[in-house]
Amino acid sequence: MVRLRLLLSLCALLPSALCDYKITLTTSSGLLLTDGNTTVVNNTAILSGSQNTTVSALKNSTQGLSYSFITPTVAKVTLNTSNAFNGARFSASSDTHFYGVWEYPFNYRISNTNVSFELKGVGNNVGINWSNARAPFFLTSSGYGVYTDTLKMGSYDFTTPGEVQFVFNSTSLVYYIILPKGDGSLKSIIEQYTEISARSEMPPTSGLGPTFWSDDFTQDFHGSVSNAQENIQDVVNHLYYNRIRATSTFLDRPYGSGNRSWGNFDFDPAQYPGPEGFMKNLTDFGFDLQVWIANRAQLGTKIFNASTANGWLFPDDHPVGGLGEALNLSIPAAYDYFEENLEYFASVGVKGYKIDRGEEGEMPDYVQNEQMALFLDLAYETMVHKWGKSGFYNFARSAVDRSRAKTHIWNGDSAANFTGLAYTVASGIRAGLVAFPIWGSDTGGYTREGALTPSAEVWARWMWFSAFSPVYEFMLGTNHTPWYPPYNQSTVDVVKQTANLHADLTPYIKSCAYEATKTGLPIIRALFLEAPEDTKTWEVPDSYFFGEEFLVAPIITSGGSRSVYFPKGPSKKYLEYFKKENVYSAGTTANVTVGLDSMPVYVKQGAIIPRGDIFQGNAMWVEDWKPSLRLELFPSYDVPESRFTYFDGEGQDGRTVEIVMTTDKEKKAVNVNLGELGFGVTLVWYLRGATEGREMSVSSENGSLELTEVDTLF
Ligand SMILES: *[C@@H]1O[C@H](CO)[C@@H](O)[C@H](O)[C@H]1NC(C)=O
Ligand SMILES: *[C@@H]1O[C@H](CO)[C@@H](O)[C@H](O)[C@H]1NC(C)=O
Ligand SMILES: *[C@@H]1O[C@H](CO)[C@@H](O)[C@H](O)[C@H]1NC(C)=O
Ligand SMILES: *[C@@H]1O[C@H](CO)[C@@H](O)[C@H](O)[C@H]1NC(C)=O
Ligand SMILES: *[C@@H]1O[C@H](CO)[C@@H](O)[C@H](O)[C@H]1NC(C)=O
Ligand SMILES: *[C@@H]1O[C@H](CO)[C@@H](O)[C@H](O)[C@H]1NC(C)=O
Ligand SMILES: *[C@@H]1O[C@H](CO)[C@@H](O)[C@H](O)[C@H]1NC(C)=O
Ligand SMILES: *[C@@H]1O[C@H](CO)[C@@H](O)[C@H](O)[C@H]1NC(C)=O
Ligand SMILES: *[C@@H]1O[C@H](CO)[C@@H](O)[C@H](O)[C@H]1NC(C)=O
Ligand SMILES: *[C@@H]1O[C@H](CO)[C@@H](O)[C@H](O)[C@H]1NC(C)=O
Ligand SMILES: *[C@@H]1O[C@H](CO)[C@@H](O)[C@H](O)[C@H]1NC(C)=O
Ligand SMILES: *[C@@H]1O[C@H](CO)[C@@H](O)[C@H](O)[C@H]1NC(C)=O
Repeated sequence: MVRLRLLLSLCALLPSALCDYKITLTTSSGLLLTDGNTTVVNNTAILSGSQNTTVSALKNSTQGLSYSFITPTVAKVTLNTSNAFNGARFSASSDTHFYGVWEYPFNYRISNTNVSFELKGVGNNVGINWSNARAPFFLTSSGYGVYTDTLKMGSYDFTTPGEVQFVFNSTSLVYYIILPKGDGSLKSIIEQYTEISARSEMPPTSGLGPTFWSDDFTQDFHGSVSNAQENIQDVVNHLYYNRIRATSTFLDRPYGSGNRSWGNFDFDPAQYPGPEGFMKNLTDFGFDLQVWIANRAQLGTKIFNASTANGWLFPDDHPVGGLGEALNLSIPAAYDYFEENLEYFASVGVKGYKIDRGEEGEMPDYVQNEQMALFLDLAYETMVHKWGKSGFYNFARSAVDRSRAKTHIWNGDSAANFTGLAYTVASGIRAGLVAFPIWGSDTGGYTREGALTPSAEVWARWMWFSAFSPVYEFMLGTNHTPWYPPYNQSTVDVVKQTANLHADLTPYIKSCAYEATKTGLPIIRALFLEAPEDTKTWEVPDSYFFGEEFLVAPIITSGGSRSVYFPKGPSKKYLEYFKKENVYSAGTTANVTVGLDSMPVYVKQGAIIPRGDIFQGNAMWVEDWKPSLRLELFPSYDVPESRFTYFDGEGQDGRTVEIVMTTDKEKKAVNVNLGELGFGVTLVWYLRGATEGREMSVSSENGSLELTEVDTLF
């Protein structure tokens, strides 16, 4: 049985300043981290060699190796050798689970059992192609993490049970062995990792969506529509008439002039006859706009001509008709040229990029990580110049480690069927384990050809999942638009229900996003992050905690039934969130069945859920729109005190308010303290006797409220 060994170690129980971890070199030139007499980390070997396939353990030469604790819980190891490849091996008990490194769920798992792969884009795979967020960081169920601070190419091998080995194409290497601190949780390892590397920036509220886009707005015209610009207006209009909330849209390729429509830094005048009027229209209708970009130069385009004249392109090893080579952005002039030309988009009002590719062979694999980081940097800079930090939404499918501070992500090209959805859910959980918190997927699935098409059922289930994703991003168009055949009103109804739910959850999601900027903790959380002592949570790829309050179990197969496991630790009981009738005990499994109008979602005892209409987006149909906030309260006498940190701001600017709920079983009293929560908040108490919730309006002076003689739902 796997145990979280860290919980037994002395350090986990003491303030970290009193910790006494030691690091020592073993006789076989490995490193041991000990806590008293307990080995907490066994770094069995330091590896070095002239080829990535021939590395061997350093034996009796530790020249160039240094190691020490830089904080009471983080050891830094530095290695310089004359060899081109360096790495390390770690051993733990054979039932240890290793997580992290890649977003893609190899073998449909959230752990890396049996995986051996490089730290690069994963290419075409089961369920999803190009699910490429990654980081040289792994986390183990035995209670430590290891971060290798490099953008060099490398590989991780998890094929030996209880062992991991990594090797990088670099003569020097720095890695950090990270132990838990504070409450001793695995979450504290992610916090320390992201403190050393980087944390996400706050997205603008519009970035969280719902956002609606087409893979190709230049086709599939309806009614009087005759170009892409009008096609988008048609989407905007349908969202308006159906009262479906939205905050943004984006233009995928093709939208520019030139060869394969990319490389001239413009809008194709045939499809976008008046980009500036079009942009103003979108703004007036409450939409932000992003455009597709990639580091590729297609024959005959402006970027290609400038690059060939200056020798900026990586050598072409593709057949003619390929997608164009990448610019080598390590050349400062190439970097500057790209950045200067992108500024055009910001200048006409574009508020972010969908950043594609970087791992399709347009450059040698060994520079993928370095080049992707440079491209994300320059894209970020062009937006920051115009809109300031958090004033725009950039998202990429390929992003490495520190780039999480420069871009958010989507999970690549998923298959438009239940396999695609299942893998997508698992990839969302895994993105969290490499600390990419702001994440979304192409709702309905990206690959829609042949047998792959979002059936009304797959699509509806995916919409529910996206409602409980950090970003709700909806792919329509190209003969798959809910309000056009073959779909009908019932699909439109689910779009409306889920998009509007996501919009209403924005206060909650935004608060979690803010927490992620401060701690690195993801919003979609593997069950074990919240329930580390429950060994049944180590390998669950199909349910997750959404922030700390929700347990979410998407339907990922046909038919609407699934089993749901209720983890032990975070809560003694869980309440079904929508009907508020069924309560489940931790440690049990239930079979549940839901129609297309719902999904299995649960709240913990003591949950505090801020919801409401705080961002107008396209809701121009609401007269005299003003923000309103509602706090849903789920007190339980099993939980004497619970807290939620509400972020009351836009982008990075705002304040946090600590909401505290207390209960007193003997007095049968429940109390909430709203701190300095500003404008007219509505409280909704969920108590026994009324599943509708007991509503109360609160004025700002009234910071604390108590109800007595009440029974809770748990
Ligand atoms: C640690 O090992 C030393 C030497 O073997 C022994 O004297 C000591 O009692 C051990 N301490 C614990 C806490 O087991
Ligand atoms: C460390 O791992 C190696 C290889 O599995 C093993 O031989 C050694 O005994 C371990 N050391 C400790 C202290 O656990
Ligand atoms: C390791 O090196 C030390 C000092 O250089 C030497 O005394 C020792 O014999 C060496 N051991 C082996 C196994 O080569
Ligand atoms: C490794 O090399 C770097 C720079 O080349 C140097 O700063 C560092 O001190 C070296 N570390 C060790 C342990 O030799
Ligand atoms: C790992 O892969 C091997 C070979 O493909 C297979 O036999 C084994 O069952 C796999 N183990 C796990 C735990 O998936
Ligand atoms: C070694 O590098 C090659 C080329 O990048 C790669 O295909 C291979 O997977 C690597 N092998 C290991 C063990 O890292
Ligand atoms: C702006 O929106 C109006 C109203 O839908 C439409 O008639 C007009 O053509 C749009 N203009 C542009 C440039 O998109
Ligand atoms: C566009 O690029 C393709 C190769 O990808 C090339 O065959 C074609 O000639 C180019 N067209 C123009 C107008 O340059
Ligand atoms: C390692 O990196 C060098 C450049 O630093 C490159 O020439 C070489 O091909 C790379 N090796 C592998 C196996 O990727
Ligand atoms: C992945 O790419 C391959 C090759 O282009 C394609 O056949 C397959 O449908 C794609 N799968 C997904 C999930 O997009
Ligand atoms: C989804 O599509 C893929 C690729 O076409 C196929 O292999 C898989 O079996 C499909 N899954 C389901 C559940 O139909
Ligand atoms: C759930 O359904 C499965 C398959 O029908 C069954 O084996 C299992 O016992 C059920 N579990 C519960 C808790 O009802």
